[in-house]
Amino acid sequence: MKKPASQKTLAAFAGTLLLVGAGKMGQAMVDGWLTRGLNARKLVIVEPQPARPVKALVKRGTRLNPKRAAEAAAIVVAVKPQTAPDAVPPLAAKVGKGTLVVSIMAGRTLRFLEERLPAGTAIVRAMPNTPAAVGRGITVACANAHVNARQRKLATNLLAAIGKVEWVEDEALLDAVTALSGSGPAYVFLLAEAMAKAGIAAGLPEQLALRLARETVTGSGELLHRSDLDAATLRQNVTSPGGTTAAALSVLMAPGGFDALLTEAIAAATRRSRELAG
Ligand SMILES: NC(=O)c1ccc[n+]([C@@H]2O[C@H](COP(=O)([O-])OP(=O)(O)OC[C@H]3O[C@@H](n4cnc5c(N)ncnc54)[C@H](OP(=O)(O)O)[C@@H]3O)[C@@H](O)[C@H]2O)c1
Repeated sequence: MKKPASQKTLAAFAGTLLLVGAGKMGQAMVDGWLTRGLNARKLVIVEPQPARPVKALVKRGTRLNPKRAAEAAAIVVAVKPQTAPDAVPPLAAKVGKGTLVVSIMAGRTLRFLEERLPAGTAIVRAMPNTPAAVGRGITVACANAHVNARQRKLATNLLAAIGKVEWVEDEALLDAVTALSGSGPAYVFLLAEAMAKAGIAAGLPEQLALRLARETVTGSGELLHRSDLDAATLRQNVTSPGGTTAAALSVLMAPGGFDALLTEAIAAATRRSRELAG
C-alpha cells in the first residue's frame, strides 16, 4: 500500500504569491499551500466577494484586495473562464522578470493568456478536477516555451496542493484530459446513481440502495487509490469464474457495453472541449 506524502514544499517560497479568484478551487489551493508551509504573509488574494475563511487570513498577514500590488513571484488565476477577458489584462502590471503565471481556467489557452500578458511571460495552463476540494484532485499541466525548470517545479508544487500533478508537452491533449479527468468525476457520480437505481430495481429499499452504491464507489476508489495493483487486476481479483460478478461483467463488457459507451462519451466531451477552447 502506498503511503501519503506530506512535504513542506512551499516553506521556502520567496516573494509574493498572488491568487486571482478565491472561489471553490482558489480556496482549496490556499488550504493546500498553507498546509505545505507557505507563509500566509506571502499571499495576496484578489477576490471581489471573499468568503469568511479568506477574510480570516488577513489576521495572519495575507493581503486581500490591496489597492496597489507589486510584482509577484507567481500568479495563480482561478477565476471562471468567462471572467478571463476582464481579469487577465490587469495582471500584466504584476508580471516581472521571473514571474510564473499559472492558470486553471478551463478552456483558456496558452495563446489567450500570452496575448494579454507581456511578451516572454512564463505561463502554465493547468486542468484540475473537483476532488481538488478534498486535496485528491488530479491536475494536468502544460507549459509555454518561456517556463524554465525552476518555474516548472514551482508550478508542480503549487498545483500539488490540490492533488496529483501530471505534465503534457502538447497543449492539444488538454481537450482529452478535460474529457477524462476534468469531467470524469461526473461519470463516477453517475455510476453511483445508476448502481443505486439498479439496486432499487432489484428489490432493495431506496435508502439502503443509495448507501450501498455510495459506499461501494467510494470504498472501491479508496482501495484503488491505496493499492499498487491496477484497476484491471483489482477487478479480476474479485471476479470468480462462473460467479455473480462474472455474470454482471458479461453484460457490462459485452460489445457496445461500458467500454464502448465511455469511449463515445469521452470522445463527445473531447470534441466539446475543442469547440469551447479559446
Ligand atoms: N471546480 C472545478 O471542478 C474545476 C475543474 C477544472 C477547472 N476549473 C477551473 O477553475 C476555475 C475556478 O473554478 P471555481 O469552481 O473555483 O469557480 P468559482 O467558485 O466561481 O471561483 C471563481 C472566483 O473568482 C472570483 N472572481 C470573479 N471575477 C474576478 C476578478 N476580476 N478578479 C478576481 N476574482 C474574481 C469570483 O467571484 P464572484 O463569485 O464574485 O464572481 C469567484 O469567487 C474556473 O476557471 C474553472 O474553469 C474548475
